[in-house]
Order: sequence, then structure tokens, then C-alpha cells
Amino acid sequence: MSQEQPGTPDIVEKLVSLGKQRGFFFGSSEIYGGINALYDYGPLGARMRRNVRNLWWRSMIEARDDIEPIETSIIMNPQVWVASGHVATFSDPLVDCLGSCRKRWREDHLPDERRARGKPPDAPGCPECGGPLTPGRQFNLMFRTHLGPVADDAAQVYLRPETAQGMFVDFATVVQAMRRRLPFGIAQQGKSFRNEISPGNSIFRTREFEVMEMEFFCKPGTDGEWHRVWCQERMRWWVEDCGVRSSHLRLRAHEKDELSHYSTATSDIEYTFPWGWGELEGIANRTDFDLRAHSEHSGKDLSYFDTETSERYIPYVIEPAAGLDRGCLTMLIDAWEEEEVRGETRTVLRLHPDVAPWQLAVLPLSKKPQLTELARPLAHRLRERFRTEYDETQSIGRRYRRQDEIGTPLAITVDFESLEDRAVTIRERDGMTQVRVPIDSLEQACDEQLAACRAAALERARG
Ligand code: GAP
Repeated sequence: MSQEQPGTPDIVEKLVSLGKQRGFFFGSSEIYGGINALYDYGPLGARMRRNVRNLWWRSMIEARDDIEPIETSIIMNPQVWVASGHVATFSDPLVDCLGSCRKRWREDHLPDERRARGKPPDAPGCPECGGPLTPGRQFNLMFRTHLGPVADDAAQVYLRPETAQGMFVDFATVVQAMRRRLPFGIAQQGKSFRNEISPGNSIFRTREFEVMEMEFFCKPGTDGEWHRVWCQERMRWWVEDCGVRSSHLRLRAHEKDELSHYSTATSDIEYTFPWGWGELEGIANRTDFDLRAHSEHSGKDLSYFDTETSERYIPYVIEPAAGLDRGCLTMLIDAWEEEEVRGETRTVLRLHPDVAPWQLAVLPLSKKPQLTELARPLAHRLRERFRTEYDETQSIGRRYRRQDEIGTPLAITVDFESLEDRAVTIRERDGMTQVRVPIDSLEQACDEQLAACRAAALERARG
């Protein structure tokens, strides 16, 4: 199945190929020919996603005392989406090609689609075949299904297009359960679904994706300052915690006509993808729009009583909302490097060690039992503390190349000398430097080496 768009530059094609070959990501249900814009994450992709989720969880929840996590249901009472404005306005303008290709496009994406095919952005007609296009019409992006056995209108429900609404409708319950005072946040990670008109660029725009969102509730009047604080903190996270190069990122404030119906100010953290700048995360000032709308629509009071000032008000909300799939794609693209080593091209993913699927790979020099009998228990021992892979297949050179390609920061080689000197070699991915370390103090050496890798990743990311 080809999910690449024409004109997508080389590196994405290579990543898509590596993604499948090495088990990062590939099309969903491929044995049936796949299904458009839906993806599976393989063993390495699943590990990497878990690492990125954990980094977000650590920085947003565990390292702070002012954010509570929740997990809300994917299908909610449909009135939620009426109140939030999604039923009325969560739509994109759609046009159909009446020419030979009969493709469907997002009207506002037409210039980009033409550019991607090497045509002038204002060329007339369909980007693919040049045929005439229908006038634009609005298409609601929410997936619909039915709850229960009768598929009638009364049973119609939606798959959530964002996780945010779960946090708004549970606001009062969380305040009460956790005895919270403002300012504080509620956060969650989870799947969202959008019936995108023009998905594409691999896992950049899909129809099922995961978001990591936080709603930060604050006193009206303090929202501007909190918006600034969260823009800064979220930018810091992408660079320092995930190792994305700051020179490839920018913070872009939305123009007035771009703002969503609920927002007075939104800034996007964008990455310079091979096809142009694209959004990784939006940091929106949602004002009191959502809590007010749910109060009015449900009849339940979602205002907050401020005991310090004896005022009652509806809190304002600052929302940083990041995409996990896009985040992982960004980290893979940003880490990708090819270099000449002894006349051969080495592909190396310079992933941050906290993002890489594995931290360590234990590699016996050969499959000889003397070596594997030492290496296997060693890998087992290291797994107590590190994300460790064990690999005894193929030549050691090929195994190093594979570990470089999947971004493993450290490879630990067990060789025949290890049987004599009770020491192993640690090879570092980026500089390919090697050090000999006693097996007895291997954990400590790995800790030190990983700390050095983190420092190097930070230096690379800060530029
Ligand atoms: N609650 C706010 C909200 O949902 P959004 O900007 O629509 O905001 C948040 O989505 C993030 O989710 C985006 O910054 C992007 O990283 C990711 N995202 C949005 N649509 C996506 C799609 N179709 N495929 C993959 N990721 C998507």
C-alpha cells in the first residue's frame, strides 16, 4: 500500500521504508490491502511511543504538583459535542474533482497539494489531473457510530475528535475529589479520531491519532501570562526532553482569521518538515468558552468559588495539545543522518536516549555457547535497569549497523576476551567510540555513558 503523496521528499520515503523493515510503523491491516490513513506501530514504534508518552507524563504530571491526570471515555454523551460547537463547526471545506481522477480535496490545502506536484499554487483546477473542481462545501470531521443495537438517530454517538472535552465535563468532579484550588491543570493522553479529507505525509495526518493534552484552569486576567509560560515550557520539552533541534522548530502565533471558535490566542509549535512547516502542538487560550458552554448546555454549574477573594467565576483555560504520532515522526526525521564510514554509507538515528526504543543492545561476538552463556544472563541482568535488547544473529558489523539504524545509543559486545578478563566493550552510537568496562560495574558504566549521551543530545538539540 502506498500512503506517500507524490513529491514527498526522499527522507520520508526512506523513513517509511525503514519504518516497515525495522518495525516502527506501517499501514494498518496490510494483508487486506491496507486502509487509507490508518497505521499500526510495530515493536519498535510501540516502544518509542511509550517512551515519548512517559516523557510527557513525567514533565506534565510527575515532576509537578499542579496537574491531575485523568482518562475519559472515547465515546461521550453526544450533547458534549453539541455544546462544544463540534457538531455545528468542526468541519473543513471540501471540493471534488470532476475530471479524470475524481479525487477529493481540502479546499484550503489546494495550493500546497499543487506545490507538492510541482505546479504553481494558484494553477486552476484539480492538483492531480487539472480537471474542474466542485464549489467548496463543509464536511464535518467527526466519525459517527451508534450506541446499542438500534442504529437510529437517537442512538447516534461520535468518536471523540479531541480528548479536551473529557477534562471540561469532569472539571467540577476533579476539583472536588482532589480539593484543588486554582490555578491547576487536568491532563490526559489518548486516541482521537477525525475523518480528515486529505490525510497524508505518512503518520503526519491520519484519521486515528493520539494526543497529549492538558487544560490549565486559571483566574480570568492571568490567562495571558499563563499562555506565555506554557508556550515556553512546551517548547523547552520538545528540545530538552525529546532532543528535537531548536533550529528546526518555531513558535508561530495564529492570525486572527485562523483562530478556532473557542480561542482568543493560539500559538503553534511547528517543525520544518521536508514538505514545509507543520504543527506539532498548539497552545491555545480557550478562555472560559468550554466551561461556560457546558454549564449552559448541561444546566450544571461549572463555576469556581475563589476562597481567597470570595469571588465566583468561570475559570479561563490554557491548553497545550501535542500530537504523539506527529511527535514521533518529527523525532525520527530530525534524528535521521547518513554518513560515510570507511567507504560505506552508515544510516544512524541520533535519537535522544530517552526516546530511542532501546537504551542498550547486548551483542555476543558470535553464537558460540561460551559467549551466549555469558551474554544472555548479562542482558537479563541489565533489563532490571535499562531497556535492553539482546541480539546474537548475523555478523557483528551488521548488528552494529542495525542498532545504529534504530537509534540504540549503546551496544555492549561480549567477546572471547570477556571470558578471561570479565570485561565487555561499550560502543557508543554517535561517535562509534569504544571503551572496555568490567562486567561487575557495568550498570554504573552504562548510567554514566547514557548521561553523556543525554548531554550530547541536549547540545545537538540546542544547536
Ligand atoms: N484540543 C485541541 C486540539 O485537539 P488540534 O491542534 O486540533 O488541537 C492537537 O490537535 C494536535 O494533535 C496537533 O497539534 C497535532 O500534533 C495532532 N493532530 C491533529 N490532527 C491530527 C491528525 N489528523 N493526524 C495526526 N495528528 C494530528
